[in-house]
Amino acid sequence: MCGIVGIVGRNSVAPQLVDALKRLEYRGYDSAGVATLDKGRLNRRRAEGKLINLENMLQQDPLDGTVGIGHTRWATHGAPTQNNAHPHFGDGVAVVHNGIIENFSEIKETLISEGVHFTTQTDTEVIAQLLASLLRQGKTTHQAMQQIMQRLKGAYALAVLFANDANQIICARNGPPLAIGHGDGEMYLGSDAIALSPFTDDITYLDDGDWAVITRDSAEIFDDQGRRVERPRSKASSAYAQVEKGNHRHFMEKEIYEQPEVISHTLAHYVDFSNGTIRKLPDEIDFASIESLKIAACGSAFYAGQIGKGWLERYARLPVEIDVASEFRYREMPLPGNQAALFVSQSGETADTLASLRYCKENGLPIGTIVNVRESTMARESDVVFQTLAGPEIGVASTKALTCQMAVFAALSISAGMARGVLDANQEKAMVRALSEAPRIANSVLNLIQPQMESLSRELSKYNHVLYLGRGSNYTLALEGALKLKEISYIHAEGYAAGELKHGPIALIDENMPVIVIAPHDRYFEKTVSNMQEVSARGGRIIFITDEDGAKACKLETMATIVLPNVDEFIMPLIFMLPIQLLAYHTAVFMGTDVDQPRNLAKSVTVE
Ligand code: F6R
Repeated sequence: MCGIVGIVGRNSVAPQLVDALKRLEYRGYDSAGVATLDKGRLNRRRAEGKLINLENMLQQDPLDGTVGIGHTRWATHGAPTQNNAHPHFGDGVAVVHNGIIENFSEIKETLISEGVHFTTQTDTEVIAQLLASLLRQGKTTHQAMQQIMQRLKGAYALAVLFANDANQIICARNGPPLAIGHGDGEMYLGSDAIALSPFTDDITYLDDGDWAVITRDSAEIFDDQGRRVERPRSKASSAYAQVEKGNHRHFMEKEIYEQPEVISHTLAHYVDFSNGTIRKLPDEIDFASIESLKIAACGSAFYAGQIGKGWLERYARLPVEIDVASEFRYREMPLPGNQAALFVSQSGETADTLASLRYCKENGLPIGTIVNVRESTMARESDVVFQTLAGPEIGVASTKALTCQMAVFAALSISAGMARGVLDANQEKAMVRALSEAPRIANSVLNLIQPQMESLSRELSKYNHVLYLGRGSNYTLALEGALKLKEISYIHAEGYAAGELKHGPIALIDENMPVIVIAPHDRYFEKTVSNMQEVSARGGRIIFITDEDGAKACKLETMATIVLPNVDEFIMPLIFMLPIQLLAYHTAVFMGTDVDQPRNLAKSVTVE
């Protein structure tokens, strides 16, 4: 949440800062601002709302200065007003911050008692005011930085300009990521390498507790003890450069249609299609011998984990316990015996998932992460990284990252099934064959159902409430369908296990609440059709998502039936995810919401 950037440049940096912020807008878009240092003076421009407002403001009222910092905000403390927008000022200090300062009230009270006057409701202003207060006491900028890092509790990535030093930015990291970019006579910093992709791909990531002094040609990094340290430089993935929408109206649409390709790339990383086998996995997690697996994740990544649990239990007979990471991290669960832990995340930075990972690590479990951002904190803190090759996902609603996470789980389940002696070579071959078909089928399904999805969305947008039902993996798809619809169209939606209908939600059924039933002709089909009967008998209107065999077998009248081709049961969740995504997408487009940046949300949730 929130994106920060900084440039120590040679020319006026404000336009470059805005360019970098554009690539971070997915992290928050409540307000944005930049500050520069020009002839020993700090100046800033800040605007409420999307970055375009700041861009327009800068066009009318440009900002000079070759050193500057910028911010795009997802509000935590204080309303998303211009006044609360970053950068925040103290005397001679400008600060941008991503994260939350948990002890800000206590620091604020102390500073107020010393006569400091606060002008915003944010937690960030205490950082600027505290630094200013330390400078007034005669501390150097370096001493002040080191001191505040001892004092601040919570999560932060910071970039600071000091008016008394025109040639540097000081930045610090405790929690949220921070990347330093090395240029030619210019240096950059950003919340991730994507922000810096127009300028450089030569990146150094700060470790937790590090702070750094960035000048035009160097970055001096210090650890939490103030010792000078070296951190490795690496090349950012070239995929980061390609974050354009192309011919698509939205990133989300582009990302939905990229799925056949990125699922295929991801699978190819784990599966040897020519031999019909799974590639050997790293042995940090011994799937053959572990007695159980813990999984934690948030949102859609959690649903990928839930599908993975189904596969691992069924095909590898491996007991799996899964929980949303915000609960997992505080459960204080005992973790005895021979277990491993697996975390799922697109960004690799989600605060709750990271905290759950660290809990399991402290308890000595081998840690695996299914993660999209290779350089992320979770990736770096894991014993083994199962990378998804989805490429940058910009739309706030996860689509291709989620299906790639599922693809990794599919490969892992075959591998674990083989390692545990549950699957034999013939079964492995058959499952690999099914997986190899998934990208081609996904492509034809996307093209096949697109027109129907568009017209159905028009109908769906007339309702205020929608219920999704399914059994087995289709129950997870029901949950994901409801999440996707509510987050981008703002229509209230619930996902339920179809068998739970009569234990409560059936009371809601009437002609005003469409019920979307996901039921391919699998082993649950007859049971789910019985639940559809119960809906139909009460005047409920059904949107039926099924396959050719399911459509033939079900004689019930529906509001609409979406028929997908018959596919192998193993890959059904991957294929049936597609109508769910398209339905939410087109409904949101039809309703005119901001599909890629839905209200109140952010892509990378680095606060609890
Ligand atoms: C929903 C969505 C979110 C994320 C969740 C986890 O469409 O995108 O629910 O799945 O915030 O994010 P990551 O995967 O980055 O940990």
